[in-house]
Amino acid sequence: MPLYPENALLMAPLSGFTDLPYRRAARAGGCRFAFTEMVDVASLTYARERSAGMLRRGPEEEFLGVQLVGADHEFIRRAADVVNEYEFSVVDFNLGCPVPKVAKKGAGAELGRHLDAALACFAIIAERSRHPVTAKIRIVDAEDPAPTLALAKGLAELGAQAITVHGRIKEAFYSGPVNFGMIRAVREALPGVQVIANGGVTGRVKYQEIRRETGCSLVMLARGAMGNPWLFNELSLGDAYVPPDIDEWFGVIREHVEGMIELYGEESAMRMARKILHDYLKGRGFHSVMKALASAVATRADFEAFLARTKQEHSESYWTQLEANPAAERRLRR
Ligand SMILES: Cc1cc2nc3c(=O)[nH]c(=O)nc-3n(C[C@H](O)[C@H](O)[C@H](O)COP(=O)(O)O)c2cc1C
Repeated sequence: MPLYPENALLMAPLSGFTDLPYRRAARAGGCRFAFTEMVDVASLTYARERSAGMLRRGPEEEFLGVQLVGADHEFIRRAADVVNEYEFSVVDFNLGCPVPKVAKKGAGAELGRHLDAALACFAIIAERSRHPVTAKIRIVDAEDPAPTLALAKGLAELGAQAITVHGRIKEAFYSGPVNFGMIRAVREALPGVQVIANGGVTGRVKYQEIRRETGCSLVMLARGAMGNPWLFNELSLGDAYVPPDIDEWFGVIREHVEGMIELYGEESAMRMARKILHDYLKGRGFHSVMKALASAVATRADFEAFLARTKQEHSESYWTQLEANPAAERRLRR
């Protein structure tokens, strides 16, 4: 049985974002397949209580993958054992994260560049995990397909049932064109594995393009869905899609932030909510004063005041325009 049905849209693991309240908002927008944030394998040993929060799964979450990141064999082994105590739909291994904090430890995209080391780590997860295993990689070399294909094939031989390919190299971080040809090459080289295309999908045009150019029916959304969880419905429903009105938009934000308060307590939740509120405001025709208000939210009362102001400050013309053109492209988070 393949892990994902044809045409499935997946929500990417997003560090600092895809916690349970975030995923609930995404699911309200039509997301079925979601992941935790990446979980550092060492932290599952040393700060188990703190990182256990990242493993929390809502009772309504039919599909949830956990993503592990790390390069130390002993920590990977222990993390796989911890994850075995939980119920997940898949265990995904991160071979694509370019951030210095991760690269410094030889993990993420840095590990993905060292074939034998990457496969040795993945082999531990594959052998130890009682869940299906998958991996998320970046392309290794922008010109030469050989190292990316060697990595993907090696992962498949070790049992990866699906491989997500982010079509950029490590140095590109999150900007620049997506190398569709390289994603296509991986898909064609691995007929028995589900290959998921990732990079730059913000709306219908980019969605059609990545599907056409890579030949993948499975696509992972990341920044395009940040602050726009409705992107899942927009892409899967096509012309039947009805964009949210201001009340629905408002309701999803309220539930999202209330979920954060429940999970982290008011003070931490409010600090974390600022970036989330910015994303929800982005590209929706709000006056810039709202951004300043979002940045200053520190208490539940501030949040209520922020919400009340969104009702006053929102631009009618944007919401009317949205109704007329539900597929209008929004800008990506930088
Ligand atoms: C804020 C942020 C956090 C991310 N965290 C993760 C992560 O935890 N694990 C992962 O595999 N990729 C992570 N990524 C990468 C995304 O999953 C995705 O591969 C990348 O953003 C490219 O897709 P996009 O162009 O559609 O945004 C992160 C990206 C961003 C912007």
